[in-house]
Amino acid sequence: MLENFERYPLTFGPTPIEKLGRLSEHLGGEVEIYAKREDCNSGLAFGGNKIRKLEYIVPDAIARHADTLVTIGGVQSNHTRQVAAVAAKLGMKCRLVQESWVPFPDAVYDRVGNILMSRVMGAEMELVDEGFDIGIRESWELALADVKAKGGRPYAIPAGASVHAFGGLGYVGFAEELRAQEAETGLRFDYVVVCSVTGSTQAGMVVGFAKDGRARNVVGIDASATPGQTRAQVLEIARNTAELVRLGRDITAEDVVLEEDYAHPAYGIPSEATNDAIRLCARLEGMMTDPVYEGKSMQGLIDLVRKGRFPAGSKVLYAHLGGVPAINAYSYLYRNG
Ligand SMILES: Cc1ncc(COP(=O)(O)O)c(C=O)c1O
Repeated sequence: MLENFERYPLTFGPTPIEKLGRLSEHLGGEVEIYAKREDCNSGLAFGGNKIRKLEYIVPDAIARHADTLVTIGGVQSNHTRQVAAVAAKLGMKCRLVQESWVPFPDAVYDRVGNILMSRVMGAEMELVDEGFDIGIRESWELALADVKAKGGRPYAIPAGASVHAFGGLGYVGFAEELRAQEAETGLRFDYVVVCSVTGSTQAGMVVGFAKDGRARNVVGIDASATPGQTRAQVLEIARNTAELVRLGRDITAEDVVLEEDYAHPAYGIPSEATNDAIRLCARLEGMMTDPVYEGKSMQGLIDLVRKGRFPAGSKVLYAHLGGVPAINAYSYLYRNG
């Protein structure tokens, strides 16, 4: 599906698939749970889902002779950290807008984890006192204009690398890669569980799996707590991406499955149920998840298995999209484990 698109390699190659045997057993053993480890996809500052997306965006930045990647996220954004790493790798500059998307009171919130790494990698950043919104932000447009005014050649990457013409391609590639791994191993996955916020990860998967009739088996778990906006953004990106890759059929609202029950109480704030899921997965599998994204999708996965959403005998693939560095910013919350 991606033959006509240039890809700049930033990842190690196909990501490993790991059976979560102890978690499967713990949840009754009727559903086999696996994880596809997107969190281990690259050596670029711990990797994650944005690195896979950026492989299809970077060729455009190079073709346009950009010298500065300009993007936006929250203070503990995984996305901005991954853009900073890619800029360093390419020999470009990086300008980051870090907004106050999560009003979390930990003393080290703006000093550890993702933001620490972005600083060490030399990104220029400004902290802006604006709340959570996955849409296009004025602060980002001002940063782009500022880079230009100072004689730079900015390249615009929106939040999560999502609302970008090529933002959905990386996760179309995920579906293609999984099909190849299925052919190789003889495993066939019935469902893919994926965390969704800015939307292009799920959107790319919906398009990629539409090719073999599994679009509606992509189960998005909302972590934005603004699910209407996330759902609309997934649908729009999926429709545009379907056209771009010439899928041959339209993507409809029914193709976007988004579970809304796990993002509470707010974006970036874990509930007790989220923390229970993080601890359970860590203690049964040694697999770390974070309180902003993957802890919530892990909570969703566990709850949906318990509720019998997946028929007995199903193979369910949890897409682990990364994000663990942010857990450092919740140091007081997890002081006793
Ligand atoms: C670790 C992690 N999981 C999930 C997501 C959600 O992906 P998307 O923004 O493409 O919906 C993100 C980024 O927003 C992330 O950093």
